[in-house]
Amino acid sequence: MAHSPISILSRVDFNGHPLTEELLSRTFQQLMDEHGYVLLCNVPEEFDPVRFCRALGTFVPNYTGAVVGDVRPEPGMDDVYHAGNTRPLTPHSEGYDFAFTPPRYIALWCITPASGPGGETTLMDTRPLVGALTDVERKQLLETDYAWKTTEGVQRLGLDLKTRHPILEDRDGRDIVRFSCNNLIRDDDDFAAELQSRWHAAFDRDHVAVEYHERDMLVWDNWRLLHARNAFSDRSRHLRRIQIAG
Ligand SMILES: [Fe+2]
Repeated sequence: MAHSPISILSRVDFNGHPLTEELLSRTFQQLMDEHGYVLLCNVPEEFDPVRFCRALGTFVPNYTGAVVGDVRPEPGMDDVYHAGNTRPLTPHSEGYDFAFTPPRYIALWCITPASGPGGETTLMDTRPLVGALTDVERKQLLETDYAWKTTEGVQRLGLDLKTRHPILEDRDGRDIVRFSCNNLIRDDDDFAAELQSRWHAAFDRDHVAVEYHERDMLVWDNWRLLHARNAFSDRSRHLRRIQIAG
């Protein structure tokens, strides 16, 4: 079942004046720590999303090398699993196919919302799920290396990425979750297969669905939250994205 987002920050105050940079960044950090995502709304035309993201950390280029990426239906990509079409995406973390650390934050902001139903970005906090693991399961997820491949869409761009990582990593006391429903290579009787169906079911049950208005910006902690997308039909839907190392 889809829940409405609750971690929402208005760019302007009750008088319609922009929040000071200091208040904006303090409330943003509080909401991010509490919920693992922030939806910035009431965004005026003057708002500079790239400048806002710069304060969060170093940018990580997208697959194409573009630092600011476009998420919109691309020609010739309708038949593959890929963000650049109108099809649904299954729950995943970003950057499981990177050789090094996945980006800490992902920012998406809306240039053109989809008219008609669908096109929501969906999110789920893994913290309760990771917290509910038994000691044996946690140890298994920290210590088992899995092979990961990249999506069909990215392969078609000419990148055939292959890496090995555990699903869970402890980085200085902070958990990093890597997850994919379709690009984690495992046997059917592996614990990872059971975890995939367990977490996919939890996602279907508990996710937050973010519907965009023009200029809305969604930022989430990619070490902690999984994300996905609902299918849509309006091919003019257009988001931009930045990945941030943190
Ligand atoms: Fe993604």
